[in-house]
Amino acid sequence: MDTPRDVVIVGGCGHIGVPLGLAFADRGLSVELYDLNDEAVAKVNGGESPVGEPETAGVLRRVLDAGLLHATADPNSVSQAEHVVVVIGTPVDEHLNPDLNAVKAAITDIAGHLVAGQILVLRSTVYPGVTAMVERLVEQRGIDVDVAFCPERIAEGNAMVELYQLPQIVAARSQRAVDRATKLFRNLTHEVVFLEPEEAELAKLFTNAWRYIKFATANQLYMIANDFGLDYDRIRSAVVQNYPRASDMPGAGFAAGPCLFKDTMQLAAFNNNNFHLGQASVMINEGLPLYVVARLEQRFDLSMMTVGVLGMSFKAESDDTRSSLSYKLKRILKFKARHVLCHDPYVTGDPELTALDDVLAESNLLIISTPHSTYADLHPDVPVVDISNLRGAGVRV
Ligand SMILES: NC(=O)c1ccc[n+]([C@@H]2O[C@H](COP(=O)([O-])OP(=O)(O)OC[C@H]3O[C@@H](n4cnc5c(N)ncnc54)[C@H](O)[C@@H]3O)[C@@H](O)[C@H]2O)c1
Repeated sequence: MDTPRDVVIVGGCGHIGVPLGLAFADRGLSVELYDLNDEAVAKVNGGESPVGEPETAGVLRRVLDAGLLHATADPNSVSQAEHVVVVIGTPVDEHLNPDLNAVKAAITDIAGHLVAGQILVLRSTVYPGVTAMVERLVEQRGIDVDVAFCPERIAEGNAMVELYQLPQIVAARSQRAVDRATKLFRNLTHEVVFLEPEEAELAKLFTNAWRYIKFATANQLYMIANDFGLDYDRIRSAVVQNYPRASDMPGAGFAAGPCLFKDTMQLAAFNNNNFHLGQASVMINEGLPLYVVARLEQRFDLSMMTVGVLGMSFKAESDDTRSSLSYKLKRILKFKARHVLCHDPYVTGDPELTALDDVLAESNLLIISTPHSTYADLHPDVPVVDISNLRGAGVRV
């Protein structure tokens, strides 16, 4: 690849890189998606999105035809664009601490390909201090490259809408870097919010921890209501009705996925493991599948039953199973129940999924673990546990 580009996205064939690259390209910028994943690269160049993000297929075709987007596994591509945007994954490790070396390793890998005059935009959700570390890495190599941190805040499943709507946080140490990053993101959205890099790193972690804590609050209230034989959703509906101060009270349900949990843990690690609300939220959210099964055991002899788990992705209308609590539920049930059958209309590549008709025909009990809309109209003859109240009439646990 030696075509000059406006933007190269490092980690460009992942869940964030693909929609971001498509959005830039659809606004007329010339974009290269650089990724280590050869299979995902081939898919993009073949016109197939490697991620299940809605509304990407048509845009992908359009920008490929226009020659505005290309994917590659060649790191030399990093030299070819003025803007280098980094969106690699930033997981936590087995100790629930951020893998601080993930970004460092990626930047070290591409450092030899950076050229003077570029701007390096970190867009991954990073542990506070990583932007400063990247600034030092670049400086040590003596390359005149601006560095900015501009966190991605879209919700998976809504990227192609939110990329154009959400205000963009821009943070950088120099005015030149601020101006350049602002100009880049103004291709997508008008509203820009300026912070210092350390503030922006915390802003992104606060965003996700806040959401995770809200879900945990809802789940705890659900358990309290349920333990007293009361219906959380009836109570919640009454609370939020024409009452703005509680209008954001979420419904109950499995709160997981690749971001909320790990970013709450990143924040805890940053504060020397001192984040009681965040840590309590992990116990509540991650404990919900255990609670559900424990409650069901009080009513049913699960060891005699086939249990159908409906929905395996971490959120509704998504194919993304990363950190999905449906799999935790499945593991618990496999220990307790006679047999477990699982279905998901979106998930591919899981050999243990069963056709919906077979799950419905063979199960003595169904649990809607992911509220895909397709499950809303099911009327089987067996009890249906519906934690998120998708059907408005589920069996409580
Ligand atoms: N998924 C979301 O909804 C979401 C939302 C906001 C922010 N984020 C943040 O965005 C970042 C990316 O998340 P994601 O869900 O897109 O992850 P992902 O795993 O789907 O994508 C990351 C991509 O980076 C590639 N990659 C990894 N190391 C690389 C390297 N050294 N060089 C080139 N490519 C490399 C991988 O092959 C993969 O395709 C994370 O920091 C995440 O926290 C994610």
